Amino acid sequence: MGRESRTPNVLLFSLVFFSFFSLKYSAAIYNITSSSSLLQGQTLTSSGEIFELGFFSPNNSQKQYVGIWYKDVSPRKVVWVANRDKPVADSLAILKIGSDGNLRLVDGKQATIWSTIITRPSSNISSGFLLDNGVFSLMDSVTGEILWESSDHPSDTVMSDTKGPHVYTSWKSDNDPSPGNFVLAFAPRPPLQFFIWRGSTPYWRSGPWDKSRFIGIPEMDTSISGATVKDSQVPGSLSVSLGRFSNCSLKNLFISYQGYVKFMCWENNYGWYANWEAPRSPCDIYGACGPFGFCKTSKRPLNCFCMRGFVPKSSEEWSKGNWTRGCVRRTTLLCERNSSAIAAQAGKADGFWQMRGVRLPDFSYYVDEVAEGCQRWCQDNCSCTGYSYVNGIGCQVWTRDLIDVIEFSYGGQDLFIRLTHDELGDYYCYLNVERLNIVFPFHPLFSLSCCQYSIDFHLLFSCY
Ligand SMILES: *[C@@H]1O[C@H](CO)[C@@H](O)[C@H](O)[C@H]1NC(C)=O
Ligand SMILES: *[C@@H]1O[C@H](CO)[C@@H](O)[C@H](O)[C@H]1NC(C)=O
Ligand SMILES: *[C@@H]1O[C@H](CO)[C@@H](O)[C@H](O)[C@H]1NC(C)=O
Ligand SMILES: *[C@@H]1O[C@H](CO)[C@@H](O)[C@H](O)[C@H]1NC(C)=O
Ligand SMILES: *[C@@H]1O[C@H](CO)[C@@H](O)[C@H](O)[C@H]1NC(C)=O
Ligand SMILES: *[C@@H]1O[C@H](CO)[C@@H](O)[C@H](O)[C@H]1NC(C)=O
Ligand SMILES: *[C@@H]1O[C@H](CO)[C@@H](O)[C@H](O)[C@H]1NC(C)=O
Repeated sequence: MGRESRTPNVLLFSLVFFSFFSLKYSAAIYNITSSSSLLQGQTLTSSGEIFELGFFSPNNSQKQYVGIWYKDVSPRKVVWVANRDKPVADSLAILKIGSDGNLRLVDGKQATIWSTIITRPSSNISSGFLLDNGVFSLMDSVTGEILWESSDHPSDTVMSDTKGPHVYTSWKSDNDPSPGNFVLAFAPRPPLQFFIWRGSTPYWRSGPWDKSRFIGIPEMDTSISGATVKDSQVPGSLSVSLGRFSNCSLKNLFISYQGYVKFMCWENNYGWYANWEAPRSPCDIYGACGPFGFCKTSKRPLNCFCMRGFVPKSSEEWSKGNWTRGCVRRTTLLCERNSSAIAAQAGKADGFWQMRGVRLPDFSYYVDEVAEGCQRWCQDNCSCTGYSYVNGIGCQVWTRDLIDVIEFSYGGQDLFIRLTHDELGDYYCYLNVERLNIVFPFHPLFSLSCCQYSIDFHLLFSCY
């Protein structure tokens, strides 16, 4: 008898449980208001059904984050996370509009875990929407004024047509959205260029914007020509547009937890793939060859050279493949010597040596001069170590160590470096096989690509 009566109870329970679940767990909503919160399992959907905002747990763990991702795209690409370093483990946590108009992530005890901070509290008349460009926006429902936008507080992903300047911080790992080691940001000082920082150390650099591309990325002419940056010289008005790629139905740029900036493209036939990424080789890493050193992208593994007129600061370290201290000038510039020396060298003024097709060094200054004036300015100022005239940018000069120079196999700019008269004559170069070296990965990041070249001759160029 007991057994007969049990079955309907289980069935009844399942039905109730199921309908409770489908009510709670399948609803897509289109706004969050003070009267309708977002529960776990629900998603806030953009009007064109392109993006979703909701709770997710990256590792199938108990840790819940609120994020934005592409709807119906697998694997899921989370483009924004609200509570990056404050996951909730509470199944009763919800997202709601608080009495001050802010969006709040509250736990089951109504304690705030994360919240927006709107500058002008608007009591409880704000409502939250997800736009079709992946931006969550809090709006004053009465005036229509935008009170807060997720694009002003980005995570690791650059969404197209969002204004800046912004700072994007990588995740800690594939499964951990808390802020990681790498930051993608525009340089805090002119010229306009962007950096990957590892902590507070520059790790990679795009080179300056010449109004159509970043000149330190030669492949920008071809593979990523659709990216544009609008810089109206007003702080806060920088806008990045990822352009049109006929084959990419979805696209974004993000900084991976391993320190790569990746231009991601989604094609129906392929899924996600990186259309472009940087750094591409150890040569690309910021300052890989030290001051007055440079590397060639055509040479692998990383092999550094001193600029003409310069010698390794420490030949011992240099020959061991430790390039961090770079190179030093071999002969003192005439302009730095005393007046009797200058008189004795009359007619042998310092001059300039042209390096072709390079990524220009960091720390350039803009000087308002035409091309000829650019050289003259540099010639007349003894602290000027080099100059370059680039269309779209103008005259750039350097007044300190030249750092982060790459000789590209195609593209790049011409750099004119200041040398003594004697260094500008003909050179006799010798190529010595210094030693047979087993090259170990220079950098853990590149250990994979590195292992192809496990044995390499260590060559030393000497020029006299
Ligand atoms: C929110 O969405 C509901 C229906 O989903 C709609 O009735 C309501 O007007 C919307 N609220 C706002 C402020 O747009
Ligand atoms: C906000 O909402 C509460 C309750 O829903 C209501 O009592 C209060 O009058 C509202 N305030 C404003 C300014 O609308
Ligand atoms: C994800 O899971 C792995 C293995 O279960 C664990 O080691 C790791 O700490 C988890 N990551 C997070 C962020 O919880
Ligand atoms: C884009 O699609 C065209 C034709 O559909 C194809 O020829 C081209 O190779 C594709 N480009 C990329 C980068 O996949
Ligand atoms: C390279 O040289 C620098 C400066 O002398 C030193 O601090 C560093 O430890 C060296 N690195 C390696 C891998 O030997
Ligand atoms: C100036 O330089 C010349 C040649 O370099 C040197 O012989 C002379 O001693 C220097 N004079 C002074 C005052 O340093
Ligand atoms: C040379 O350049 C430096 C650095 O920009 C500047 O401080 C100095 O005034 C310049 N000297 C002359 C003579 O223009």
